[in-house]
Amino acid sequence: MTDKIKIAPSILSADFSRLSEEIRSIEKGNADMVHIDIMDGHFVPNLTIGPLVVDSINKVTDLVLDVHLMIEDPEKYIEAFIKAGADMISVHLEATDHLHRLIQMIKKNNILAGVALNPSTPIAMLEEVMDDLDFIVIMSVNPGFGGQKYIPQSTQKVRKLKKMINDLKLDIDIQVDGGVNDVNAKELIAGGADILVAGSFVFGADDRSGAIKLITGE
Ligand code: DX5
Ligand code: ZN
Repeated sequence: MTDKIKIAPSILSADFSRLSEEIRSIEKGNADMVHIDIMDGHFVPNLTIGPLVVDSINKVTDLVLDVHLMIEDPEKYIEAFIKAGADMISVHLEATDHLHRLIQMIKKNNILAGVALNPSTPIAMLEEVMDDLDFIVIMSVNPGFGGQKYIPQSTQKVRKLKKMINDLKLDIDIQVDGGVNDVNAKELIAGGADILVAGSFVFGADDRSGAIKLITGE
């Protein structure tokens, strides 16, 4: 049986001038983790934050810190994000030539290791590293910005990945990131998603707890 769906609000759509209050609001709303989008202006056409801010976030919350690296040369920065308090780190398959080594770097520090796939990247590309993964991120928008429209083909990709994980008898969580709302959440949960990231849907709502409940269907 699938466990209860986990919700990871993305602070990309939060008010950064009031970040600790914003994080408190999702804690109160029963979020399971906080999704932190790291962008470098190279791998994606946008810039966000670095380890310094992750370290500050770590000091104000006990929520699991889920760090999504959308950066080139991720191997150079893994250690800094681990020191800053990351509990889970996902790296993009498209951002490195040495995915296996990168995954080992994360795992040797007892951090949960994930690989994120852009919408155009087939799940078959993961075949040789599946055994080592704790979670896989299906990007349901092209990475770089919050508030984009969900790419409908992502639902089928999640179903296919779920089948692949089950066939291999592996224990890997499927995270879906981008354009998640109360409507597509239902099909994603039915299709096998374990963790739903939601930025604008949660932080765009005054009632964060209500928004999270709409996604979980509770
Ligand atoms: C996109 C980011 C997402 C984004 C999600 O590059 O990785 O985490 O913030 O935001 P919404 O839910 O607004 O698409
Ligand atoms: Zn993300």
